Parts: sequence; structure tokens; C-alpha cells
Amino acid sequence: MKAIVVTDQAAGTAGMKLAERPDPQAAINDVIVQVHASGFVGTELGWPSTWSDRLGRDRTPTIPGHELAGVVTALGYGTTGLSIGQRVFGLTDWYRDGTLSEYVAIESRNLAPLPGDVDFTVAASLPISGLTAWQGLLVHGRLRAGQRVIAHGAAGAVGSMVTQLAREFGGYVIGTGRPADRQSALDFGANEFVDLDHDKLEDVGGVDLVFDLIGGDIGKRSASLVRGGGTLVSIVGPPEARPADGTAIDFVVESDRAQLNEIVQRVRDGRLRTNIGTVAPLDDAVAAFNPTQRRPGKTIIRVRP
Ligand SMILES: NC(=O)c1ccc[n+]([C@@H]2O[C@H](COP(=O)([O-])OP(=O)(O)OC[C@H]3O[C@@H](n4cnc5c(N)ncnc54)[C@H](OP(=O)(O)O)[C@@H]3O)[C@@H](O)[C@H]2O)c1
Repeated sequence: MKAIVVTDQAAGTAGMKLAERPDPQAAINDVIVQVHASGFVGTELGWPSTWSDRLGRDRTPTIPGHELAGVVTALGYGTTGLSIGQRVFGLTDWYRDGTLSEYVAIESRNLAPLPGDVDFTVAASLPISGLTAWQGLLVHGRLRAGQRVIAHGAAGAVGSMVTQLAREFGGYVIGTGRPADRQSALDFGANEFVDLDHDKLEDVGGVDLVFDLIGGDIGKRSASLVRGGGTLVSIVGPPEARPADGTAIDFVVESDRAQLNEIVQRVRDGRLRTNIGTVAPLDDAVAAFNPTQRRPGKTIIRVRP
């Protein structure tokens, strides 16, 4: 099969190439999925799991990309709940070969059924952004109606989902980002917008929940805005500062079939809008992973036309 591979950590994206790889084999509880569309996160080549297995051993050549939408073509021993020919979408294990490829082996529990009226490209944009927003707001952040929420990077892949879900669950959303992202953040439902290049973040006053996907100085300054009993949720590593009278938590997104069902249902009924910026074929995936200019929104690789 055709796949994007990386072999040389020092080379970074310059070492990415389109190559021929053996078709994956289904282990116990796995399914094989013919990938129609794939999503990735631009920071993947910096993750240890891209280069080594759970015991720290070199696992290159590695296929990046962890989001997929496609069709089940084979079932591993003992696999239940899915059938051959079924449309699915989901999030693959960080330590296994990923989805920038024509086929992938994935544990069935990491997948959810994909309704027939949701396009593969749309579905591939949902697992990481949707699940991260869902888990950060509702599981770790324990968002309640009426709370004030800072959604950093509100026009980005994760931030646009955070903004929409926080509004749906009754939050008052203060979106942040680049000057050019103001209208996009407001269109995704932010009640107000802070241009981090020109406005003073501290002027927004106290909040109950910060969803931080920027970190650094912005993360530190955000911690001081969390009021008593509130939470700073970080998806960019352990927070460097903690709220004086609140909680700080960081997490890495996990696949969850029930949550994937909730997310795709919202896309179907119009409560959630995807934020797809660029769609490219697998042959152009290396360039898409390594853009020469800013590409707002999520990039999706359409593996099968
Ligand atoms: N822990 C997890 O489970 C998890 C899951 C998903 C993502 N992540 C991480 O979360 C981060 C965001 O991911 P994403 O896919 O949402 O990326 P994205 O689509 O690029 O969105 C990030 C947004 O924040 C903006 N931004 C970043 N730094 C900023 C700054 N200093 N001032 C103003 N705006 C700023 C970006 O603008 P520019 O493009 O102009 O910088 C962009 O609009 C990445 O570091 C990713 O690795 C973690």
C-alpha cells in the first residue's frame, strides 16, 4: 500500500516521504480499515510516540496521522461490534502506524460507526478536535451552564470545537487568537474576542474555565484569571502556573466511541460546524504537512478520491 513514512527524527518534515509499505495485519480486537480520509496534527513529529514504542524502542519507519474515516475491510480475531463493509471513523493509537496510508490496523474500540450522510472528509476532521474539546470542557473542565470560558485559539481546529460546544452547554465564551481570526471566532459562536497581539488578556476579568492550547506566557497569564473553584485545562503539557484557588489539569485526548457518536450526531443536525481549511490528496500530503504559509483550519488528506 501507499503511505507517508518518517524514518529520521533529526530530519523532521524534510524526512517525510511517500513510500510503499506492507499492508497491515489485524491483531486481536483489531479491524483493518481502508482509509478514505485522514487527519493529522502538525506537531506529531515532535511526539516521542511517533518514534518509539511503549518500551522506548525505535519503531521507525512510522506512518503519521491518527484520525481516519473509511470502510472496514477485515476483522481480527475476536473483534465484535463492527462488520466488514461498515463505514467508520475514529482515532488510532499514538504508538501504532497511523492513517496517512491506504489501510490501517486499529482496535475496534477506537472507532465509531459513521452515518451514511456524513462525508469521509468531514468525519476525518472530527476525532481529535471534537474529542479534545469534549473531554477538556465536559470531562476535565466540568463545564456548567452560565460559566465564563476562555477558548484560546478559537478559530483553530480544536478551538473552534471548544467554542461551539461551550456555547451549546451554556457557557459564555471569550475566544482568543490572531487579529485575522476575530470574525471566524465570532462566527463559531464566541460571545467576545480577544486579539492576543493587541488586546490585554487580563481585561476580560475572572473566568471559570480556561481551555489552553497555546501555553507559554499566555498559559501562565490565563491561570491568574481563573476564579475560585475554576479550572485551567491545558492540552499543551503541564501548566507552568496554576490558578490560586482552582484546579489545573492537562491531558491527552483518548478515543471514545460514545463521545464520537455525540459529536457526529451534532454535525448531522447542524449544532457543530467543522473547520476544514485544506483538503489534499495523499500524493501531496508531505507538502500539506509542511505548509509554507499559514493555513487556518484543519487539513485533511483525502486518501481515496
Ligand atoms: N493534548 C491533546 O490531546 C491535544 C489534542 C489536539 C491538539 N493538541 C495541541 O493543541 C495545539 C492546537 O492544536 P490545533 O490543531 O487546534 O492547532 P491550530 O488549528 O493551529 O489552532 C491553534 C490556533 O491558535 C492560534 N494561536 C497559537 N498561538 C497563538 C498566539 N501566541 N497568539 C494568538 N493565537 C495563537 C493559532 O494561530 P496561528 O496558526 O497563527 O499560530 C491557531 O488559530 C497544538 O499544539 C496541538 O499539538 C493537543
